Amino acid sequence: MSIKSLIRTIPDYPKTGIMFRDITTLFGDAEGLREVVDTLAGEFQGQKIDVIAGIEARGFIIGPAVALALGVGFIPIRKQGKLPAKTISVEYDLEYGSDIIEMHVDAVKPGQRVLILDDLIATGGTALAAIDLIEKAGAVPVSCAFIIDLPDIGGAARIRERGVPVFTLVEFE
Ligand code: PRP
Ligand code: ADE
Repeated sequence: MSIKSLIRTIPDYPKTGIMFRDITTLFGDAEGLREVVDTLAGEFQGQKIDVIAGIEARGFIIGPAVALALGVGFIPIRKQGKLPAKTISVEYDLEYGSDIIEMHVDAVKPGQRVLILDDLIATGGTALAAIDLIEKAGAVPVSCAFIIDLPDIGGAARIRERGVPVFTLVEFE
């Protein structure tokens, strides 16, 4: 089965009008999971990535698998109040609400080349906040990668306008 056909859609979750693209069905399928990891790792194999930053919560599922495939480390970007050491934070807008994400201030070293990974890009608010965090720490956001793009919402275009390349695997309306 294709990656796209393994992603389940839940209408009206978490709010009326949202078509929720659920990647748990994709990750639950051994071949689907393998294909996602291989495709993402293959794309970034030659790109001098030092570390992968995964965004809570679904970036924590795919991020470490791709990090292992690339032979690099993994760092978490988390929702506010979850990280134990000194953090830097950025507030951002969601497709349905707003939130604050944080990263340990010493999670990346100045100059390190970081790949930002998450399951889905909608408005791009989360990924833009992650880019800001990486830059605040003095590191370089080399690229952002997502399994799912919702191109009608325009997030990937916003990230590219910010000067950071975007790689995605499947698109939904
Ligand atoms: C979802 C998704 C991305 C973000 C994309 O996470 O996993 O992180 O929204 O939206 P954006 O491009 O409009 O910022 P969510 O904030 O729902 O958090 P969760 O993974 O903890 O459920
Ligand atoms: N995050 C933001 N929009 C989403 C959607 N439509 N499906 C799943 N996660 C999302």
